[in-house]
Amino acid sequence: MAPTTTTVADEAKVASIKTLTGAELNSVPSEYTYIKDPNDQADASDPEHSIPTIDFAQLTSSSPDLRSKAIQEIGRACEEWGFFQVINHGVPESLMKSMIEVCHKFFDLPEEEKKEFQSRKLLEPIKCGTSFNVAIDKVRLWRDFLKVIAHPEFHSLHKPADYSEVSLEFSKQTRQVATELLNGISESLGLEAEYIAKAMNWDRGLQILAANYYPACPQPDQAIGIPPHTDHGLVTLLIQNDMGGLEVQHNGKWVLVDCAPGAFVVNIGDQMQILTNDKYKSVWHRAVVNNRATRISIAVPHGPALDTAALPIPELLGGEAPKYIGMSYEEFMELQASPAAYMMPCLDHLRVKADN
Ligand code: OGA
Ligand code: NI
Repeated sequence: MAPTTTTVADEAKVASIKTLTGAELNSVPSEYTYIKDPNDQADASDPEHSIPTIDFAQLTSSSPDLRSKAIQEIGRACEEWGFFQVINHGVPESLMKSMIEVCHKFFDLPEEEKKEFQSRKLLEPIKCGTSFNVAIDKVRLWRDFLKVIAHPEFHSLHKPADYSEVSLEFSKQTRQVATELLNGISESLGLEAEYIAKAMNWDRGLQILAANYYPACPQPDQAIGIPPHTDHGLVTLLIQNDMGGLEVQHNGKWVLVDCAPGAFVVNIGDQMQILTNDKYKSVWHRAVVNNRATRISIAVPHGPALDTAALPIPELLGGEAPKYIGMSYEEFMELQASPAAYMMPCLDHLRVKADN
């Protein structure tokens, strides 16, 4: 009898991509087969195609000229790319590496020990799993994940031993960088630096440490790490080990993100697109896999407080009608994780209809 629904037992069959790839594997199993359009590949040789660079030291400089230059560059990057890399941010590269290492150690724990963190609850403080949502995924993703909420309340794991200490420091320092960037973004829109932080109750804002584990894949063209999606929050900061794989959509093409060692990759999320009434776009991106080595990335989405709804900022409308209705951030995240909106633009659910 063919099963029509996925049961917990089915889900448990492949607890992780780690288990699957631990065995000798020469091809991608059919549940994981994801064929990209051959015309839809990133062209690494295109020199026009690299994300802009923001010098954080300029943004935080005491020289008003340097600061305003950095703010202008942030504004341009947000409008033209929705993605940029941030250098000279002051977070030690050693801390970034340690964070990647402790996450790697977590993925390497025996499956038995990771089990207690498997959960279907969206805002579970500590949650690990495979794919995106195995109950509804049509194609399994070539990745395992660990998501830990680090703000407004810090949560942590006892194992691996260094996880707590390293992730606390990493989350604090990353949040500081995110706060400065948010204020810079606010100013780039002609608003007071703390306008967005205040409006979004940033002091109670959500920060998630979301680690992705993408093992080497025997046929990288036939699988996907994370399919095209946008991020739900305000700004996401991302780090990775020395394997690339993040691709960003730009002018209708996919661009492989090539960032400086120790840099943060930063992107605008859906809440920011709503606030700016589409001026700053929450850009589509995806994670591709490779056949050489395990890739680990840590995405750190920062969002509003869970009870707070983003609405187009009146000062930015300049006579335009607001394009979005409000929805609390928590409801928005639930919508994004629901089957109806699975990897579909959630923003469209909030968009004011033209004939309204
Ligand atoms: C994400 C994401 C990309 C990557 O976790 O939302 O887009 O490169 N990750 O791992
Ligand atoms: Ni993302």
